[in-house]
Amino acid sequence: MTNAADEALLALVRELRSAGYAFTTVTPATHARVLARDPMRRAASLRDIFGWSLPFDRPVLSDDLFALMDAAGILVAAEDGWRSALRVSSLDGKLFLHSAYPPAQADVVFFGPDTIRFADAVKDHLAGRERMPTRAVDLGTGSGAGGIVIAGQVPEAEVVLVDINPRALHLAGLNARSAGAWRARPARSDLLHDVPGHFDLIVSNPPFMIDRAGRTYRDGGGALGEGLSLAVVEAAAARLASGGALVLFTGAVIAAGRDPFREAAIAVCEEAGLAWTYREVDPDAYGEELDGLAYDGADRIALVVLTAIRGHAT
Ligand SMILES: C[S@@+](CC[C@H](N)C(=O)[O-])C[C@H]1O[C@@H](n2cnc3c(N)ncnc32)[C@H](O)[C@@H]1O
Repeated sequence: MTNAADEALLALVRELRSAGYAFTTVTPATHARVLARDPMRRAASLRDIFGWSLPFDRPVLSDDLFALMDAAGILVAAEDGWRSALRVSSLDGKLFLHSAYPPAQADVVFFGPDTIRFADAVKDHLAGRERMPTRAVDLGTGSGAGGIVIAGQVPEAEVVLVDINPRALHLAGLNARSAGAWRARPARSDLLHDVPGHFDLIVSNPPFMIDRAGRTYRDGGGALGEGLSLAVVEAAAARLASGGALVLFTGAVIAAGRDPFREAAIAVCEEAGLAWTYREVDPDAYGEELDGLAYDGADRIALVVLTAIRGHAT
C-alpha cells in the first residue's frame, strides 16, 4: 500500500469517527450466527459495511467515503456488490482497523472480544503500578490495541508493537497514528528475537488455539495450543528489566482437572525468580471448539491472566 493509500485510510477512520461510528466486534462464531438469520442481508449502514462486513450497493455510501475506500485500496468488487476489505472496531472510544470477516486467511489481522479483555487486564495492571513504564512492548500486537492502550495511559513511554505478520504491523502503525500514540512504533520480530534491550512492561495476548489450519493469529503451537504463550513467559524471564512486569492474557486448556500451561509457566517464573499471580478471568470460553477432535480430552478452555514481576513491587 502506498502512502497516499495510508492517508486515505486514516481519513476514512476520521470520517467514521465524526459520523459517530462505533462497533463492538464479536467472535467469528457469534458473527456467523448473526449473519445466518438472514443470508441475503445487505448493508444498510456504516456498521453493516465496516462492522458486519456485509456487501453493499453503491448508494448506501456517500461519494466521499466511497472515494476514500477506493483510494485506500480496501474496496472489493464482489459478485454481490461492494465489500470492505477491512473492519473497524471500537475500544476505549478509539477506532481500530483490522481484517474483514470471515477471518479465513493465514495473515488475518486479529481483533475480537479477547482484545477487549486483554486491554482491561493491561489497564488493571497500570492502575496498580507505582512507577509507570518507560519502555514497553506489546508482543503479538495484531492491530496494536494493547500497546496503544499503554500509550494512551502513559504517553511518554516508548511502546514497541511487535508482530511476525507484516499486515498486522502495517495496520498497527496506522492505528497508532489514528489514536495519536506517537511513541508507539511497529517492529517485525519473531517473539522478542529481533528487538533489542530490556522492557519494564511486556504485555501479550498471543495465539492460543489448536488450529490445524495453522493461521498465525490463532495457532498457539504445542500439544494444547500453549506453545507460544510459554515462549512469551520465557522471553519475559530473559528480557524484563528490574521492577518490570509481564501481563500475559491467554487461553489455557484444562484437562482432567489439570492446567498444564499454568504448571509450566509457573515453573519458568520460579526458575527466573519472578513473583507471579495467575487467575482465571473466564473459566469456560470457546466451548464450541471442544466439538473438534483436536480438543479430545479437554474439560474446558479457560481465559487466564498471568502477571509476573521481576524484583520489587512496581
Ligand atoms: C490472537 S492475536 C492477538 C492480537 C492482539 N494482541 C490483540 O489482543 O488483539 C495474536 C497475534 O500474535 C502474532 N504472532 C503469532 N506468532 C508470533 C510470533 N512468533 N512472534 C510475534 N508475533 C506473533 C499474530 O500474528 C497475531 O497478530
